[in-house]
Amino acid sequence: MTRPARLAVGVVSAGRVGSVLGAALARAGHTVTAAVGVSDASVKRAERLLPGVPLRPPDEVTRDADLVLLALPDDALAPMVHGMAGAGAFRAGQIVVHTSGAHGVAVLDPAAEAGALPLALHPVMTFTGASEDLQRLASCSVGVTASTDDEAAFNVGEALTMEMGAEPVRIPEAARPLYHAALAHGANHLTTLVADCVELLSEGGVAEPERLLGPLLSAALDNVLRHGDRALTGPVARGDTGTVGTHLDVLGDRAPDVRSTYTALAHRTVARASRAGLLGVADAAEITNLLDDGRETQ
Ligand SMILES: NC(=O)c1ccc[n+]([C@@H]2O[C@H](COP(=O)([O-])OP(=O)(O)OC[C@H]3O[C@@H](n4cnc5c(N)ncnc54)[C@H](OP(=O)(O)O)[C@@H]3O)[C@@H](O)[C@H]2O)c1
Repeated sequence: MTRPARLAVGVVSAGRVGSVLGAALARAGHTVTAAVGVSDASVKRAERLLPGVPLRPPDEVTRDADLVLLALPDDALAPMVHGMAGAGAFRAGQIVVHTSGAHGVAVLDPAAEAGALPLALHPVMTFTGASEDLQRLASCSVGVTASTDDEAAFNVGEALTMEMGAEPVRIPEAARPLYHAALAHGANHLTTLVADCVELLSEGGVAEPERLLGPLLSAALDNVLRHGDRALTGPVARGDTGTVGTHLDVLGDRAPDVRSTYTALAHRTVARASRAGLLGVADAAEITNLLDDGRETQ
C-alpha cells in the first residue's frame, strides 16, 4: 500500500469534522499549515484541536497545501470548489479530499481538471468537534471513493485513512447515493425512533426512560448486527396480532404521529420476518390486514 509522503495539509474549514481529521493527520506526522475558521465556534475548535495553526482565507489555505481537506456543509462543497478553481487555487500534484458522505468525487471535477487528485473520504461516525472524536475516529470506518478504476488514487485514500487510525472501505462512485441513503436511514432514523420511544415512555409516567431503554436497545442493536433478521423478537415475529392491534389503538389515542411510523415499520417487519422464515403466511396476512385497515376505522 502506498504511504503518502509527509504532507502540508490545509483544512477548509475548522468545523466538527475538519478540525478532528486535521488533528488526526497531524498526529500521523503531517503538518497542518493553515485552516479556515470564521465563526466563533470554528475559531475555538481550531484553537483546541489545531493549536498554533494560522487561520487564513480558503484560497490561501488551498494554494499552499499538498493535501486540501474540504470539510464543508454538503451544499457548500460544489460552489467552494468552483470558486477556488476559478481563483487558480488548485494545482497538479495536490490531493484534494472532501468528507461529505453524500458526494462522490465528481463534485471535485474542477480540482481534477487543474491536475489535482480527487478523493472522497467519508468517516462513518458522528462527530461533535470534541477531542474524544479523535478516539472515535480510530474505531470507525472511512468510505473511500476515488475516480473509477484509479487504483493508485484508491491506494492513497486507503493509506491516508489508515494513518488516521481508521479502517478504509472502498465505495464505488455509482454506489455513493445508495451508500449515503442507507447510512442516514440507519443512524439518523434510529435517533428519531429512540427519541420517540423515550417521549412515549415519559408520557406514560416512566421515570428515567433512557435507563430502561439502554440495555434493551443495545442488545437489539448488537443482536441484529450479529444475527440479522433472526434477531427479531416481539409481537410481529410471534404472530401476536392482538398485541399489534392494542399498540395501534393506544398510539392512535396518545401519539397519532408515532402511529404512522409504527405502521410503516411494522409492515417492513412483516416483510423481513416472512422472508427470514420467522412468520407464517397466515399470520403475515392477518397482521398486514390489521395494519392496512387501521383500528380507527373499526
Ligand atoms: N459531523 C459529523 O458527524 C460528520 C460525519 C461524517 C461526515 N460529515 C461531513 O463532513 C462535512 C462537514 O460537516 P461538519 O459536521 O464538520 O460541519 P460543520 O461542523 O457545520 O462545519 C462546517 C465548516 O464549514 C464552514 N462553512 C459553513 N458554511 C459554509 C459556506 N457556505 N461556505 C464555506 N464554508 C462554510 C464552517 O465555517 P464557520 O464555522 O467558520 O462558518 C465550518 O467550519 C459535511 O459534508 C458532512 O456531511 C460530518
